Amino acid sequence: MNIAIDGPAGAGKSTVAKMVAGKLDYLYIDTGSMYRALAWAVLDQGLPIEDESVVSKLLKENDIRLRRVQGEQHVYWNNTDVTEWIRTPNVSQYASVVASYASVREQMLILQRNLAVQGKVVMDGRDIGTHVLPDAEVKIFLTASIQERAMRRWKELRDKGFDPNLAEMEQEIAERDQRDMNREVAPLRQAEDAILVDTTGMTIAQVAERILEICERVGESS
Ligand code: DC
Repeated sequence: MNIAIDGPAGAGKSTVAKMVAGKLDYLYIDTGSMYRALAWAVLDQGLPIEDESVVSKLLKENDIRLRRVQGEQHVYWNNTDVTEWIRTPNVSQYASVVASYASVREQMLILQRNLAVQGKVVMDGRDIGTHVLPDAEVKIFLTASIQERAMRRWKELRDKGFDPNLAEMEQEIAERDQRDMNREVAPLRQAEDAILVDTTGMTIAQVAERILEICERVGESS
């Protein structure tokens, strides 16, 4: 069984997906971290983000890998562990720009499908249920109000030692939503056969519980 979890920024996908994967002993794959690693490299090398062919070539000529290090998923750009550097607001904005490029998404699709071939994966992103794993047995679309999502991101960044501004976070999330939902290629949308889970006012544990119940139901009926 494969589990696809999609939804907008800050809906709690990664925390919940990690918990569900841990409970089921599945492999967790954070596809957003792959777009983030590419965005980080564009920034690091001072390349023009607006030039799709430059960004696409950069991905073609380098490796993005996900590896487990002491039970945690780490992201590598070639041999460099970039895990700690890809969560800044700057990288977030760049990630949603590189993710809007068709030639980037085509390459990511291949990398991501290869990561899921062995099955038993929980993959989170924006287009997993619609494009990357359209045959996933469980598809969840996680969402929450913009205010709640901004607050979650704000706390996450503050806990990492940054000093974020809540109003700016709301604005950034709204901008990213717009870009992710309105791009031409594989926009963020709920797959027809996905189950909508609105996490506003729910704790992470409650959301994980709800998804595990859905998995159980699907497991029983298949
Ligand atoms: O989930 P995240 O915030 O780490 O994702 C970073 C960006 O990557 C986000 O703006 C949308 C994009 N993304 C995507 O387009 N498709 C995916 N499967 C995962 C992420």
